[in-house]
Amino acid sequence: MAENVFLELKNITKAFPGVIALDNVSFSARRGEVHALCGENGAGKSTLMKIINGLYKADSGDIYLEGKPVHIQNPVDAGNQGIAMIYQECTYVPEMTVAESLFLGNLPVNKFGTINWKYIYQQTEELLQAEGLIDNPRMVDGLQTKLKYLSIADIQMLEILKAIHKDSSILIMDEPTSSIAQKEADDLLNKVLDLKKRGKSIIYISHKMDEIFKIADRITIFRDGRVVGSDEAKNLTIDKVISLMVGRELSNDYPKIEAAAGEELLRVENLNRIGVFRDINFTLHAGEIVGFAGLVGAGRTEVARAVGGLDPIDSGTVKVRNKKAAIKKVADSVNNGIAMCSEDRRRYGLVLMRSVRENMGLPNLARYIYGGYLHKNKELVEIQEQCGNLKIKTPSIETPAANLSGGNQQKVVVAKWLIKDPAVLILDEPTRGIDVGAKYEIYKLMSEIVKDGRKGIIMISSEMPELLGMCDRIYVMSKGKIAAELKRGEFSQELIMQYATDSAKASV
Ligand SMILES: Nc1ncnc2c1ncn2[C@@H]1O[C@H](COP(=O)(O)OP(=O)(O)OP(=O)(O)O)[C@@H](O)[C@H]1O
Ligand SMILES: [Mg+2]
Repeated sequence: MAENVFLELKNITKAFPGVIALDNVSFSARRGEVHALCGENGAGKSTLMKIINGLYKADSGDIYLEGKPVHIQNPVDAGNQGIAMIYQECTYVPEMTVAESLFLGNLPVNKFGTINWKYIYQQTEELLQAEGLIDNPRMVDGLQTKLKYLSIADIQMLEILKAIHKDSSILIMDEPTSSIAQKEADDLLNKVLDLKKRGKSIIYISHKMDEIFKIADRITIFRDGRVVGSDEAKNLTIDKVISLMVGRELSNDYPKIEAAAGEELLRVENLNRIGVFRDINFTLHAGEIVGFAGLVGAGRTEVARAVGGLDPIDSGTVKVRNKKAAIKKVADSVNNGIAMCSEDRRRYGLVLMRSVRENMGLPNLARYIYGGYLHKNKELVEIQEQCGNLKIKTPSIETPAANLSGGNQQKVVVAKWLIKDPAVLILDEPTRGIDVGAKYEIYKLMSEIVKDGRKGIIMISSEMPELLGMCDRIYVMSKGKIAAELKRGEFSQELIMQYATDSAKASV
């Protein structure tokens, strides 16, 4: 084994009730290397990382740090041994400041026994300076501003800073870019490459093949709790990795079905919410998939939430099938045939303690009560059907959502709205954290839904390829306004980026 191996895992096995999450897995991480992990949702990636970080205990197998066997008791212990992990569902204390969070658990005290804030701020500022982040106004103000004012990308960067501050030898990143836009993702990837140059070992989990091939030195592929391939990145290709992941060849094409645009389902006119979005005008016709592109923070989610009755508006009208719809709460939008599938699955999409069945069935209960009875069988059939369509990996539909892998939780959220079968389906980042195989299934379902020209879909996405692949029209938002409307055939990645970043020439 190469001498610069920092961490080595041998024959790790871990079972949860009803699933073997890891089956005899061996794995290593070298200094000065980015080691990427790929695999379908539920393949065992996060579980392995949580074992390294001391959050879970392996049922069997050994862990070595610099050749010595170790027992990692818990995440604090892992931290002391030079291991830092940024979780897939990155949680933080909203009221804490940047400086406090960097020094958490290690607050310096001066000789009077009080916290030495001066030192903390000075050190924090030096760190930001040294890492080239002093230009980030949010971070710097953030010395004393609370984390709740930072973007998700900032929080991820802060987590990296914490690892640097602690001088961790190994940094585990579990899908760090799944919720952030291209530009911020690039900054993050550059930081990862910088850390690698400084001799750190980075384990990087992602479903985004292009970024994996941008930064990885080595790639290990998981399937059903086993390692099915591991090699230097230069010996692999995207197609090879995908076929190892899903166990078959996968077409690269989008399953887009051209449907004839039918009646106008939705017309939004001059929608305003002060300080959030301005003069929003757009339409959706039956048979259409309409995309909303833009940078994170451009206002796309906020517009969708307003149409979905989740947030108030200050002025403007929403018309459904040419009739004015007063949408003040979620029930109003649902009654008008609009359903909004939220981007933040943990906060708005799922009740983690409830089962997969309850998460999918309860919001749809009205479908199963007729003739004075609850038709439980119909419920079960529809839920099983969606679980099959989306390949939701769960021991049973009675398993609590909390026990599912990140990507499978996302599938449950999407499934719940698909069952509702609305005329207008708004999907906010529907494929976030979803593996390539299941993404393809979701695209197929989207095409199916609009195919017969009776329903329409609005898709908000930060993944340009899926917008380009699936949409009939794309609205590009920038700074709370719609900057452009582009039709299939005329949109391109470059053009969208130009409008999204406000750099489009007036003549385009
Ligand atoms: N705390 C838990 N309790 C029960 N089962 C669990 C728990 N954590 C994970 N599992 C199960 O272990 C398997 C592996 O899950 P894991 O989270 O490691 O997948 P993953 O590869 O990270 O997937 P994703 O890409 O969706 O994040 C899944 O079947 C999952 O449902
Ligand atoms: Mg995971």
